[in-house]
Order: sequence, then C-alpha cells, then structure tokens
Amino acid sequence: MLCLGIESSCDETALALVRDGKLVHSVMSTQADVHALFGGVVPEIASREHYRLIGPLYDSLMQGAGVRLTDLDAIAVARGPGLLGALLVGMAFAKGLASSAQIPLIGVNHLHAHLLAAGLDEELQYPALGLLVSGGHTHIYRIDAPDNFTLMGKTLDDAAGEAYDKVAKMLGLPYPGGRILDEVGRQGIATPRLFPRPYLDNDTLDFSFSGLKTALQTYIMAHPELVLDYSSAQKLCAGGSVPQALAHMCASFNVAVAETLCAKLDRALSREASHDIKAVIVAGGVAANSFVREHTAALAARRGLSYIVPKPSLCTDNGSMIAYTGWELARRGLFHGLHLEAIPRGRSIPRDYLTNLTKLTG
Ligand code: KG4
Ligand code: ZN
Repeated sequence: MLCLGIESSCDETALALVRDGKLVHSVMSTQADVHALFGGVVPEIASREHYRLIGPLYDSLMQGAGVRLTDLDAIAVARGPGLLGALLVGMAFAKGLASSAQIPLIGVNHLHAHLLAAGLDEELQYPALGLLVSGGHTHIYRIDAPDNFTLMGKTLDDAAGEAYDKVAKMLGLPYPGGRILDEVGRQGIATPRLFPRPYLDNDTLDFSFSGLKTALQTYIMAHPELVLDYSSAQKLCAGGSVPQALAHMCASFNVAVAETLCAKLDRALSREASHDIKAVIVAGGVAANSFVREHTAALAARRGLSYIVPKPSLCTDNGSMIAYTGWELARRGLFHGLHLEAIPRGRSIPRDYLTNLTKLTG
C-alpha cells in the first residue's frame, strides 16, 4: 500500500511517500529563516508560504519517486493541532488530490504522528508510554495501538520547546533556539539546582514550564553579560566560540528540562494503568535534544523497558511521520471523507473515521 503524507501544521511544508511502512521518498521546505526575522512563527506568512511551496514540492516528490497520482492507495494529511490557516493549505491540497482521483483520504493527528515516526526505522512495541515534547505540546500518552492513544498528562502553560525558544530569544539567539541551546549546553557543566524542576510537588502528570522560563529570565536579568548582540549571536550559530558562563547556564537549563520531563515520565510509569507497558517512546522536536535523549534513555533502562526515539531528522516536523501514520490507519480500514475538518491548537481531535469508503466524497 502506497500512502502520500502531507504536513503543513506550522512552518515546515513537507511531503513523503511510504510504501508498506517503509519510506520511499520525502521532500521538505522549512520557513524557519523567514520567521526568524520576526522572532517566532507569523501565522499569515506561514499560510502564504505553504501555498507557494506545496505544489512544486508535490511535483518534485512524485518525479523523484517515479510515482503518479493514480499509483497512490491513500492520501494522509496533518489535520491538527496546528495553525489553522497553515493546516487548511495542506488539507485543501490533499482533498483536491483525493477527490480528483478518488483516492481515500486520511486526516492524521500531528501529535500521534510524531510518536509513531520511529516506526519507520524499528518495530514499535505496544502498549507504550509516549512522551511528546514539541514546540507547542508536552503530552504523556498511553499508546495501545496506532489508532488508540490515551492522554495521561499535558502542559498547563508553555510547552518544553516553547521554553527553549523563549529562553533563546532572551539571550539574543535566533528562532527556533532549541537546537543551539542544546549545542551550547554540551560545552558547559550543569550546576545542580541552579534552576527549579517546576511543578513536581503535586500528584499529577501535567507539566508547567512557565516558572522555569521566569527563573531563566530572572537569572539573565541578573547576568546581562550573557545576552548576545546580533553579530555575536550570528558567530555563535555559525560554530564560533561559546562564552563559558553561557555554556554553563545552558547546561543547567537543559538538565532542568530533562529532569522535569523524566520525573513525570517516571511517575506515569508507576501508575496502575502502566503496569503492562513494554516501551517508552519519546518524540517531537525536543526529543532531538541530547540531554533529553540521555535522561529518558537512562530512565527506560532503569525500568527495564525498550526505549524508542526517532532519529533527529524524524523528531522535528516532517512528512514521513504523516505518511507512516496514514499507512497505519489505512491498513486498519480507517479513513475520512471530504468533510474532514482542520483542528487548531487547543481543540481536541475527534475520532471521526469513516470505515465505509463509499462515503469518500460525502
Ligand atoms: O515538533 P516540532 O518540529 O514542531 C512542533 O510540532 O512544535 O518542534 C519544534 C521545537 C522548537 O521549539 C525547537 O526549538 C525544538 O523543537 N527543538 C529543540 C531541539 N531541536 C528542536 N529543542 C531542544 N533541543 C533540540 N536539539
Ligand atoms: Zn510537530
């Protein structure tokens, strides 16, 4: 079964083809440089860029793979959560292709797709506990199957990636700053307890990262020499030398984030509902973080569980995870009709699959 996947929920326009669970070909264009000028994603610009790029990227994907529209068995598209205008571009494109060639359409939950992405490279084991850490979300799920996710905890305010991006901005670093804070932190030594492990003194599996962000803000205000001017930030991003004090602070911040994530993950694994868990899956942009990977891998090992994390290129937004999830849903006979709705961030995604394909165009 050959499935096309389309991703346009934020600032990456990405398409991929997956055949029988294996990646055939993928293409992607990131708008990060455009949004960096504004210090964050500008929704209107994101939609326009997706609209400009999606057609040429589709042509290049199909030509590169030597595939025609009529060869497709299913078309999967990220339906949310994400920026509504951005999602609508991918959705309209997917619906146009599906209806013109009568190909089944599948709306994919972008967050579930992040957690299933590693399935492209290794067999996923169920039930699994999934930690999704991205720019917009920090969620813990119990995952019983590719179409069966139960949310156990989530962030009440900032997502982990948002905390990274905001701290990077305070330091004068360009958006998105997570990757560079990771690299700079690798060159420093963390001071234990310099920053708080927020929102642990409770019994929930929810997260709150806004306090940690404020702690960083207070620390940076007390140490203004850490803030980089434009040209120093450019040099540092280009691989230039890193001030030692900045490296130490970044190491402490990375460890605080990683330990906070692990504390809640460990708590989730201790819950009654987790007694049969076989694997820990960590995914989303922040799963590319080396501190988060080390800490979560050690936790899984301590617990005697398999540890599954996508390779870094599959952690951040990509089309392959959408195509793979679409393939998993399609082979279970789960599809959508042309009424498929885009779901913006903040609204939960309904389980509204059709199982009767005659309703495709309904
Ligand atoms: O999953 P993703 O590509 O997009 C969303 O669905 O949000 O995640 C993007 C987020 C950004 O906040 C970015 O700064 C963060 O992932 N990120 C990282 C790293 N690489 C990307 N954060 C920390 N360390 C990294 N190495
Ligand atoms: Zn994402």
